[in-house]
Amino acid sequence: MTHERAIRSETATNAPEEDADRGQSAFDHTPVMCDEIVDEARLAPAGVWLDLTLGGAGHAKAVLDARDDLRLVALDRDPVALRVAGERLRPHADRVSLHRLRFDRLDEALDAAGVDVIAGFLFDLGVSSPQLDHAERGFSFRNDGPLDMRMGPDAVRTAADVVNDSNHGELARILSRYGDERFAGRIASAIIAARPIETTAVLADIVVNAIPAAARRTGGHPAKRTFQAIRIEVNDELTILEPALDAATDRLDVGGRGLVLTYHSGEDRIAKAVIRDRTADTVPVGLAVAASQEFTAHRPLGRRPSDAELERNPRARSARLRGLTRVAGRVAA
Ligand SMILES: C[S@@+](CC[C@H](N)C(=O)[O-])C[C@H]1O[C@@H](n2cnc3c(N)ncnc32)[C@H](O)[C@@H]1O
Repeated sequence: MTHERAIRSETATNAPEEDADRGQSAFDHTPVMCDEIVDEARLAPAGVWLDLTLGGAGHAKAVLDARDDLRLVALDRDPVALRVAGERLRPHADRVSLHRLRFDRLDEALDAAGVDVIAGFLFDLGVSSPQLDHAERGFSFRNDGPLDMRMGPDAVRTAADVVNDSNHGELARILSRYGDERFAGRIASAIIAARPIETTAVLADIVVNAIPAAARRTGGHPAKRTFQAIRIEVNDELTILEPALDAATDRLDVGGRGLVLTYHSGEDRIAKAVIRDRTADTVPVGLAVAASQEFTAHRPLGRRPSDAELERNPRARSARLRGLTRVAGRVAA
């Protein structure tokens, strides 16, 4: 059995029962800035395209459709996404290798696929629409479900564990750091007073009531920032991003394109900082600069979706696309 088939059968065994009935029609995710990403992929050398957040394979399939000289190595921590993506990528099955892994384990996936350097990579961060829309996944403040929020079975704690077991200081820090929530202290106090909390609807109500009435009417749903913060904590989203982005960048071939789509300030700050670091001129003053520069950043930094795309897909509104290209240098083995 090939490694690829071994991974596929593992996902089939571990996926929840109801997903078999749901089928791929229920997995509806519109890939963000897909034309821009395919345009970047067209500029990459031939070789391996690494998709670290495969989801429903919208981007991955578009890249493979556009380039028949690229193979795909792809990761996702969500077995349901991998199953659907496997079906959608069936026309390209002979050049696809799928791995149910967290993206900070990208070296394992590449090594298993026998890949050293890559032609390009994409991180499309955060959750997919089906993860948000299926109430039983517990991500939604609009649809009632169990407080879960795990993107995949590798996550150690559920949202219920975070909400019910953290002390006031820990909760306030999570809400403030990962949600930019200015009422973090008040919300943490309200959560602690109402525990145990088991469902998303109950948590959403607690947050709404903890926020001053005037603030409830501004900036979207009042529970949005709290849910985002708890989701980031449950899935350890930010701590693994910097090392994973660095590791993927190390693997880029000369001419290779590295791309990151971010959706909120926490992940965007990290992507921006890594790209700045990797593209900074580190040569002492007075020495030749051009010969030593390994990467260039894409300009303009932080491209946004077009108005036409936002009209078609409002969920893309907070997206920023950042990227870098290896222009020279030795690739780490
Ligand atoms: C925004 S969706 C990707 C959608 C995809 N680009 C498409 O076109 O369908 C993000 C996906 O990344 C996965 N994901 C998020 N963080 C991850 C991580 N640290 N490791 C592996 N997969 C992750 C999620 O499970 C989700 O399926």
